[in-house]
Amino acid sequence: MDKPDTLDMHSPDFTDQNIEKLAELFPNCVTEAKNAKGELQKSIDFDLLKQELSNNIVDGPRERYHLNWPGKREALLTANTPITKTLRPCREESVDFDSTENLFIEGDNLDALKLLQETYLGKVKMIYIDPPYNTGNDFVYDDNFTADKDEYDLVSEQKDEEGGRLVANLDSNGRFHSDWLDMMYPRLKLARNLLKDDGVIFISIDDNEVHNLRKVCDEIFGGNNLLGIISNTNNPKGRSDDKFIATAHEYIAVYSRNINFTTVHGFEPDEKITKRYNKVDDIGKVYREMDLRKTGDSDKREDRPDMFYYFFYDEIKNSLRVSKSNEKSNHNEIDIIPLKDDKSHGRWRWGFSTAQEKINTVYAKFMPKRKIWGIVEKDYLEGRPAVKSTSSWTFKDVNSERGSEQFIELGFGKEVFQRPKPIGTLKRCIEVGTIPNEESLVLDFFAGSAGIAQAIYELGSAKKRKLKLILIQLPEVTDEKSEAHKAGYSTIAEISKERIRRAGKKIKEDNADKEGIDQLDTGFRVLKIDSSNMKDVYYAPDAISQADLVDQTDNIKDDRSSEDLLFQVLLDWGVDLSLPISKETIEGKTVFFVDGNALCACFDKGITETLVKALAKREPLRAVFRDAGYSSDSTKINIKQIFKLVSPSTEVKGI
Ligand SMILES: C[S@@+](CC[C@H](N)C(=O)[O-])C[C@H]1O[C@@H](n2cnc3c(N)ncnc32)[C@H](O)[C@@H]1O
Repeated sequence: MDKPDTLDMHSPDFTDQNIEKLAELFPNCVTEAKNAKGELQKSIDFDLLKQELSNNIVDGPRERYHLNWPGKREALLTANTPITKTLRPCREESVDFDSTENLFIEGDNLDALKLLQETYLGKVKMIYIDPPYNTGNDFVYDDNFTADKDEYDLVSEQKDEEGGRLVANLDSNGRFHSDWLDMMYPRLKLARNLLKDDGVIFISIDDNEVHNLRKVCDEIFGGNNLLGIISNTNNPKGRSDDKFIATAHEYIAVYSRNINFTTVHGFEPDEKITKRYNKVDDIGKVYREMDLRKTGDSDKREDRPDMFYYFFYDEIKNSLRVSKSNEKSNHNEIDIIPLKDDKSHGRWRWGFSTAQEKINTVYAKFMPKRKIWGIVEKDYLEGRPAVKSTSSWTFKDVNSERGSEQFIELGFGKEVFQRPKPIGTLKRCIEVGTIPNEESLVLDFFAGSAGIAQAIYELGSAKKRKLKLILIQLPEVTDEKSEAHKAGYSTIAEISKERIRRAGKKIKEDNADKEGIDQLDTGFRVLKIDSSNMKDVYYAPDAISQADLVDQTDNIKDDRSSEDLLFQVLLDWGVDLSLPISKETIEGKTVFFVDGNALCACFDKGITETLVKALAKREPLRAVFRDAGYSSDSTKINIKQIFKLVSPSTEVKGI
């Protein structure tokens, strides 16, 4: 009889995954070799791999074009190293915890991105980030903080539990750009894995690092996947403290996961455009008249002779036909040809066959100003293609000042958060990066004041998009002298959460009379990054000493709740963290059901065969129990057998 398998409880090891990928292409290059500890492990025979790639290899000191900086190797290792941390739910700080599909993850985004790898691999439609710009005063998270503290005495710093720290990256620092790249590289690499094939990433940046961002993204996403660098005029008057040229813009770099699958949208038509749609048809649909004659470049008959043909309009019968010949069928017919303003022959916008097919969508109209008959097309507002974004945004709603005004409108003091992005900028990125009526997942892993949540709720209330959101924000401690601290926010994450609460409430109030506003999900589930729920023995069973054996009956730390365990299981099993959760008491034990029967979990002690049978009857896709929770050894041994008989498709695991 076999016992349930145990879950891994750590984020994926990308080195292992890379070896598997190479093994698929070059199975002959996979071998076994001893590691530093003398253990045998799967390895790559690099000499053989080089032979496979014959002459297309650069190695050693040969010159090549690439981005390099001191620390790049470590940054790659940082991205690939698995972690054993977990996400602990926090109901009290959440809004609509059980039903919301939005997540707020509190912690370092490097950890968060690693934890999300299994569950959200290839699932995110759009990522927006507004990372520290490296202005010379920004705090940058140092992932490998091991240096002696004295060395950094002069640098302002905050250390977290794990020894990582936020350091002020001053421009006097000899590693000024390298430190910023060290921070960005592993995060962008992990973020790319989360994007769907048709996914896109928008990255706000300014002159300080735009050159490095471009290079690092070319390496991570591939230069051919660059969709554009938007010049975002956020300060039209220019920065007064610039000595020579007053900077009026920053940038938004836009990359796709795979340009061949990209479905980038555009802006919804604004009022300037919609007001041109000034006619209503018999069934109440709004349209504008569009001349079928081609205007602008190559508008002459000789430019496209095949696009010159005749329309005949019978005014008495009110009928229209199209013909290649200029012969009338009766004398009531008016012949209509594309005439330029100087009365020379022009051409139509459509070929002859299109005109035949779409004859019912056009009509003849006398143009009083030009004193000739023309053909007009009914161009409907509904279904109108979005307006393609240009690479220059000079809209009023992207002005930085709007960002602060919108933050203050929610009742915050101006100084509580520096430079929140204007909602207009965020909405524009989302409109371009996601598709109307298609449910999409959006991720922002430098959430700051969480303006993106407000942008998403506003787009949702206007029924422009259906979006789910994952936000990640470090609980960056606020300076005791800061306005944020004085206003009661001990960390930036506290500000982010409060803004989401206030924005959600305001949007519901402002749109109270709108149909379906109750269904708008303005909730969020707070999950905090913490050390594993499992005691160390879980990860290193070989290292258990005799003394530890007494304690070995339970692998789980004493201060962790069943809900904590549930989220670690969801993470490890790659189950969506935003699915609805319900709790039931069965046979006196608490059982969680995730999304109906996607997963059932019981972490109570004293699990009996009767309970296991009752759960198996529900036929969940997955079932999980606590290893130390069974009432007897025989229950633990029989559990797989019970499921095999009653619900053979259930995957059963233990923790
Ligand atoms: C420029 S702000 C983002 C502003 C945001 N777009 C807004 O509209 O409010 C960058 C944020 O990233 C956060 N941050 C920096 N390093 C981080 C890390 N390693 N993990 C998570 N958040 C981080 C900072 O605390 C800061 O709030």
